[in-house]
Amino acid sequence: MVTDNVDLDIDGIAGDGEQAIAGASSTDALSQVETQYLGKRSALTRAHRTLGGLDPEARKEAGRQLNEVRGRLEAQLEARRGELADAERAEALRADRLDLTEVIPAQVLSPADRGHLHLVTRARADLEDVFVGMGFTIAEGPEAETDWYNFEALNIPPAHPARGMYDTMYLDIGEPETVLLRTHTSPVQIHLMEEAVRDDSLPIHAVMPGKCFRLDTPDARHLPVFNQIEGLVIDRGITFGDLAGTIQVFTEAYFGEGMQSRLRPAYFPFTEPSAELEITCTLCMGEGCRTCSHTGWIELGGCGMVDAAVFAAVGIDADEWSGFAFGFGIDRLAQMRQEVPDMRSFLENDIRFLSQF
Ligand code: PHE
Repeated sequence: MVTDNVDLDIDGIAGDGEQAIAGASSTDALSQVETQYLGKRSALTRAHRTLGGLDPEARKEAGRQLNEVRGRLEAQLEARRGELADAERAEALRADRLDLTEVIPAQVLSPADRGHLHLVTRARADLEDVFVGMGFTIAEGPEAETDWYNFEALNIPPAHPARGMYDTMYLDIGEPETVLLRTHTSPVQIHLMEEAVRDDSLPIHAVMPGKCFRLDTPDARHLPVFNQIEGLVIDRGITFGDLAGTIQVFTEAYFGEGMQSRLRPAYFPFTEPSAELEITCTLCMGEGCRTCSHTGWIELGGCGMVDAAVFAAVGIDADEWSGFAFGFGIDRLAQMRQEVPDMRSFLENDIRFLSQF
């Protein structure tokens, strides 16, 4: 039986608590709600204390109901606390976020300002792709060479007039041998042939790109530091026809269909017979223009059948093996392909020039 002085509005206590929990807008506000509705001085706790004034039956029922309300409010409080804490964490992260696109002006990140490979580097990579596609391997050799590799093994003995075409820087590094910056990539031929003899691994089908050096005064078509790519095929029964065919396949693969190559007699100490390698002028497509001196042809490099004296120098039996070699300038090629009037632009690092390609 409920006594007069005991006010047990259990539904009212529950309803007020639920509303306050749902209405709390922060974890701090929720803590206050907790104290107010579940704490020592809350209506709920006070109601518990009044239970003593009830008769046993009513006390048991009211106590059960009050415990049920407390349990429910506590569960709702925890759920709401989780929600509010999540929202507060998200807000803190948002406030903390550093938006770099706001700090850095947009053009700094634009693709137009990003760097790219140098024109000559790209030409070299394209050439390697074409030759690898034709079945060649890629090899490299040292940029500083002894007299043997750059000259003697290539059939250019001391005081040979051909040395006049290949003046370079000599290195005084205290070696008994003469050491110099290589004037062409042909010494890599010698390295490959010596290795193949040592390892008994003939045949050779390789291209050798790399830097070369000559004491040339820089001008529109010469640089004292430039790049060449060398080709070498040593196999059984290789003929001049194989050389011409290989050059023609390369010319079309690199420059495009319909481009022609031609070989004209020339002289190199390390090939016999030797030829100058020319291709259709890329500017006038063979019509004749100033660049090709109205011939319709542009000189690319040199080539020929490997000279017997070279085979003798490296110890390859010329009765069993024959081969051809070719070499041309990569910078020259990039210059022609992109119609660059002056080769010195390649080295001046002027961003206005470089970014055009
Ligand atoms: N090494 C020669 C040069 O730089 C080019 C060349 C390579 C010629 C291979 C024939 C064979 O002038």
